[in-house]
Amino acid sequence: MNRLSYLILMKNKPVQPRLWNIEEFPFHPEKLNHIETLMTVGNGYLATRGSFEEGYEGDIVTTLIHGIFNHASGTAVPELVNAPNWLPFEVHIDGTPFRLVNQNEMSLNPRGGALLGYRQQLNMHIGLLRREALFRAESGSIVRIVFERFASLHDEHILGQRLDIVAVDGSPKIEVTAYIEHTVTNNGVIHWTDIKTGHTTNQVSLSAKTTQSDYRLGMSSTLLATGDMTITVDRGNQRPVMKSVFVLPHQESVTLVKLTTVYTSRDVTNPLKESIHKLENAAIIGYEKLLNQHQSEWHKYWQDSDIQIEGDEIAQLSLRFAMYHILISAPRHDNDVSIGAKTLSGFGYKGHVFWDTELFILPPLILTQPELARNLLMYRYHRLPGARHKAKANGYEGAMYPWESTDTGEETTPQWGDPQPDGSRIRIWTGDNEQHISTDIAYAVLQYWRWTGDDTFLARYGAEIILDTAVFWGSRVETKNGRYEISRQIGPDEYHENVDNSVFTNRMVVWHLEQAVSLVHWLKANTLVDYNRLVESLNLTQARLELWNDIIKNMFIPFDDAQQIHIQFPGFFDMEYIPVSHYYPRTASVQAILGHQRSIQTQVIKQADVVMLMALLGEEVGASEVMVNNWNTYFPRTDHGSSLSPSIHAWVAAHLGLDDIALEQFEHAAEIDLRNNKGNVQDGIHGAASGGLWQAVVFGFCGLYLDEKGEPVVEARIPDHWKSVTFTVCYRGERRQFTITPN
Ligand code: BGC
Repeated sequence: MNRLSYLILMKNKPVQPRLWNIEEFPFHPEKLNHIETLMTVGNGYLATRGSFEEGYEGDIVTTLIHGIFNHASGTAVPELVNAPNWLPFEVHIDGTPFRLVNQNEMSLNPRGGALLGYRQQLNMHIGLLRREALFRAESGSIVRIVFERFASLHDEHILGQRLDIVAVDGSPKIEVTAYIEHTVTNNGVIHWTDIKTGHTTNQVSLSAKTTQSDYRLGMSSTLLATGDMTITVDRGNQRPVMKSVFVLPHQESVTLVKLTTVYTSRDVTNPLKESIHKLENAAIIGYEKLLNQHQSEWHKYWQDSDIQIEGDEIAQLSLRFAMYHILISAPRHDNDVSIGAKTLSGFGYKGHVFWDTELFILPPLILTQPELARNLLMYRYHRLPGARHKAKANGYEGAMYPWESTDTGEETTPQWGDPQPDGSRIRIWTGDNEQHISTDIAYAVLQYWRWTGDDTFLARYGAEIILDTAVFWGSRVETKNGRYEISRQIGPDEYHENVDNSVFTNRMVVWHLEQAVSLVHWLKANTLVDYNRLVESLNLTQARLELWNDIIKNMFIPFDDAQQIHIQFPGFFDMEYIPVSHYYPRTASVQAILGHQRSIQTQVIKQADVVMLMALLGEEVGASEVMVNNWNTYFPRTDHGSSLSPSIHAWVAAHLGLDDIALEQFEHAAEIDLRNNKGNVQDGIHGAASGGLWQAVVFGFCGLYLDEKGEPVVEARIPDHWKSVTFTVCYRGERRQFTITPN
């Protein structure tokens, strides 16, 4: 323990530019669960919310590991399982437990110690969460306590924590304890069984398995203390606890490190043994080096994935924040898992994977980290059996992807919502009828292929996804009124369920079948082996291709010739018109204000639907006059009840030259998580809003697209006050940098 080593240590830290940090200063107990979500650390294998090492009443302590789903008895659907908590790292100062005492508590109970200062900072540049507190113990001793944590990007099984304590005033007796907490649940739902704890002289460990899915987990932890470390078994809580007790002389400092390792049976056959082995190695490497290795991986990520915006600090910070959360949830070494709607940062949507991944989160990865994008697409390839099963169970051919997907690839959308205040439940139809997901996945496969030129992926895996989902659509369409129609659909606008001929779905199906037909020709010309394999296995007969061509020509696309607009679905305009702007200023969606029953009978739209079609297909949807008419029709009716909506509106508004609206929508999207403007960030990051924000900048303001020759070009229109935007994309293995200035 060296005098003032804390200050030297601070000096050696590289100074990080402000625009890489998310800060909480001072402590905001009323925003506890919101900030816990924002401060999540992760490494594509797991992620852990920014809950405190010492705990806090009402916290939602959560670590989610990709792929570890479990369907607990008595629950409707499987969910991603909360892993044992690796954070506990507690400090007693002269017997007073360190915790964040808020002002009210202090006046009620001055004996609990006093929080004199606090700052928490997530450094997104290096994936490091740091929390500093100045604390007075009941004895009068004042200490500065600094916690740091990271989930190693270099070795995804290693989790590092460091604790620095400085005796600012007095020479307190310090007691530090560290352990693994195994009594974790998902909001009360128990997923772990067969929990066994163990210890040696210098480490504690734990093994457990999930109750239904039988995944096994091993976690081990060690405390590297300056003085003696002892391990005692806390019989009451049935766990071994590591403890270090010492006196910290006035103005001296001490550093303690806690390292934890984790494996599951998805990675290795003996997770416990592997975690112990990894921990021994990690302890030899030491915290500083582990942190350095972690930082250099982050450095590589940002070299490719950072967008620099000059002239708008909030836009800059929010874009980095969005990309940070995408990167920490994107699997690096696993192509059998995918990113759920709330990433790995909360229990929202139970970790299920939606179209959010393919159409919102994937594009920034396709263009900046193509290997990660490929992993996510492979997840869908591996789930073709589930999609085929769903098609068959519904009486169709081919592959019909589930609206909500987990590890099995089966449909996991719950059929009923949680009870309403009056005890009733609302039927959830999306698992039955939000069928556009199959086309969204096909869209993502082609987008990946066009940007990367990864022919091997397309031929071996991607083509099968596109073609077998096309087979599904061929069997799904109905011949009615001398044309093809699709009944009982839910388009992106989920306020209107089970409608016939959703223009989004019908038009995207036409696009999908067009791509499928071209793909068959491409396979034949470029890779005969794959062509023959797929023709045979998917039964791609001449008759089937003729059917596809016929659907392309004769699909019903609802359109109003007089007004030159697309019709979201026939009958849409017969419903009550409610201008959404009349509800200004509002903090809830118009649907929440009017109630479910009423709003579904109005023209209020939840999210970009026809506008989403315009974003995805651009000019193919119609002439610029039609685009403008569509915008003028649908924008005033949209209440953005979904976080997926504002970014897509920003993107399309930028294309239509509606600069002010584009910026307003962009800012709305940027605030969804940072300002919690939907009020539900405690459930996790809105992954799609993050990916959408990136797309609003790159595809919207910067106007990046592939021209007829397949070359990337920009047609930019950036906000007036932005001095420049610089970004890099990976195009067919080459990095291309663009800098856009207002001129
Ligand atoms: C949106 C869907 C989205 C889902 C998960 C819903 O509220 O309407 O489009 O896929 O949330 O984010």
